[in-house]
Amino acid sequence: MCGICGVVGHHPGTPIVLEGLRRLEYRGYDSAGIATIDHHQHITRCRAAGKLDNLEAALRETPLTGTTAIGHTRWATHGAPTTLNAHPHHVGQVAIVHNGIIENFAELKRELSARGRSFTTETDSEVIAHLLDECIERGDTPQEAAFATIRRLEGAYALAMIFEGHDGLLIGARHGAPLAIGYGEGEMFLGSDSLALAPLSRRITYLEDGDWCVLKTHSVEIFDQEGNKVHRSIQTASLTSGQIGKDGYRHFMEKELHEHPLAIGQTLQRITDPTTRQLVLPEMPFDPATLPRATITACGSAFYAGMVGRYWLESIARLPIDIDVASELRYRNPPQPNQGMALLISQSGETADTLGVLRVLKKEQQKIVSILNVEHSTMGRESDLVLGMVAGPEISVASTKAFTAQLSVLAALTLTFARKRGVINAQQERELTNHLLDLPSRAAEVMKLFGAVRVMARVIAQARDVLYLGRGICMPIAQEGALKLKEISYIHAEAYAAGELKHGPISLIDPSVPVVAIAPSTILFDKTLSNLQEAKARGGRILAFTDAKGAERLSDIAEHLVILPDVDAFVAPILYTIPVQMLAYEVALLKGTDVDQPRNLAKSVTVE
Ligand code: F6R
Repeated sequence: MCGICGVVGHHPGTPIVLEGLRRLEYRGYDSAGIATIDHHQHITRCRAAGKLDNLEAALRETPLTGTTAIGHTRWATHGAPTTLNAHPHHVGQVAIVHNGIIENFAELKRELSARGRSFTTETDSEVIAHLLDECIERGDTPQEAAFATIRRLEGAYALAMIFEGHDGLLIGARHGAPLAIGYGEGEMFLGSDSLALAPLSRRITYLEDGDWCVLKTHSVEIFDQEGNKVHRSIQTASLTSGQIGKDGYRHFMEKELHEHPLAIGQTLQRITDPTTRQLVLPEMPFDPATLPRATITACGSAFYAGMVGRYWLESIARLPIDIDVASELRYRNPPQPNQGMALLISQSGETADTLGVLRVLKKEQQKIVSILNVEHSTMGRESDLVLGMVAGPEISVASTKAFTAQLSVLAALTLTFARKRGVINAQQERELTNHLLDLPSRAAEVMKLFGAVRVMARVIAQARDVLYLGRGICMPIAQEGALKLKEISYIHAEAYAAGELKHGPISLIDPSVPVVAIAPSTILFDKTLSNLQEAKARGGRILAFTDAKGAERLSDIAEHLVILPDVDAFVAPILYTIPVQMLAYEVALLKGTDVDQPRNLAKSVTVE
């Protein structure tokens, strides 16, 4: 959700920032821009609407010189995705890039206009540049100007700022949006995340909320929101630049689909005792045996993972669950139990809606346990306990391997809670654990199904609307399938609990609306089969994901079947996710859409 990057150093800044922006482009691709301080100590900038390639082309026409540079890749919130609205915003003697939303921008704009300032863009961010420039005009140093400006801002921001006449100076600030410092030899970097910084530096400081920093070629100073100098630790990033290439795949999504077995395997390996093969999670900040209830919340795909978690935790660990999407839960104000637990699920750990709920529930004295891929994210820092997935960087905007890694952690959590709550015996636990630990091999077998999925994709690619059906624990997988199809192929899709079909959506069924069923023979299969018969009787075209046993009974009514390896019902939702996501990918290929960067979307949604 907008990416920012900056450098002070001794090498030309533009290529460094451009490379950083490439790695951040998944956060937004409506426009991009770079500003530098040239050798006359003046600010120069270049901006272009659309993807980074357009900026690169513009930079070939108008190269920028200078070793102090900032850059931005935009996901538009206020103002159309035009070159005019693109960052950096250059006003007078300053240039800034901003990720986030300034909530009091209208008020600030009125105030600035009354003092004679005129605005050239429709963005909220431009007020920041004006505030800064006013301070410089009245004689503040850049540091004083930055401090005075950020104290006026309400909302969320990660900022990088440069100042005319101050080559070798870069000021950053964060509040509600992530920002990290990378340390080099005689050069320093700023970036929205460690992906941007990976090729530049492995020594990284993640700024805390309210922090701001002053970077020079040989020094870094960090201050808190009161202006006190603070110490923040330097961590060694585990990411290497090699981890963030496409490795010969056409798209990041294709690569990440192929990484499902690895993501599940690595995630489980981290929490499995190699001698006993028992799943061992870190000590909980409460006693699971006496936990009265838990709340699960997340957004998008992560929410569907949470829905699967609800089925498991309720039916196996016998734990009552309240579940809602974060954007609703945040303002719903449900009563919370004493000593309750809130389980948050997020790939990025930065999603504003989920982070908002975290803070609300923390105030309600709930213990916060987060399932995160980016463990050093804001949610990671604010949680009582982080259960990390080990999915590796997920670059494609549509989430894939993070989803199965989330499910793997949720399954392990379920078994751990069931043991501690005394509702499962050792034999049952061993059997379910073995099913889970066998999953990476089953997932590797699913990789051979791309061809079969492609055949199904040809039917879907012709459709305008698609219905996804599933029952019980497969219902959230149907929802995940519909979401993924919408996101990357732009085909309208809806998911229903198969039993709900007859209560309304069946009126949509005709030969032009394919019905995709998630139907392992182990989960309410007869019921699903009856619902599919009802759809077939009304001219519906049935496509199904099933296993060999299910295929025998579905072959009469289904036009295409994708047959998965036999697995226990416990782990079926994890396995069935993979071909369902592959289907969306194959359809998107046939439709020729921008698979990794679908229109209007961005990864890591740091605005509400
Ligand atoms: C769907 C997708 C989104 C995310 C959602 C939450 O493919 O990627 O729906 O799942 O925005 O993001 P995180 O997990 O980062 O909180």
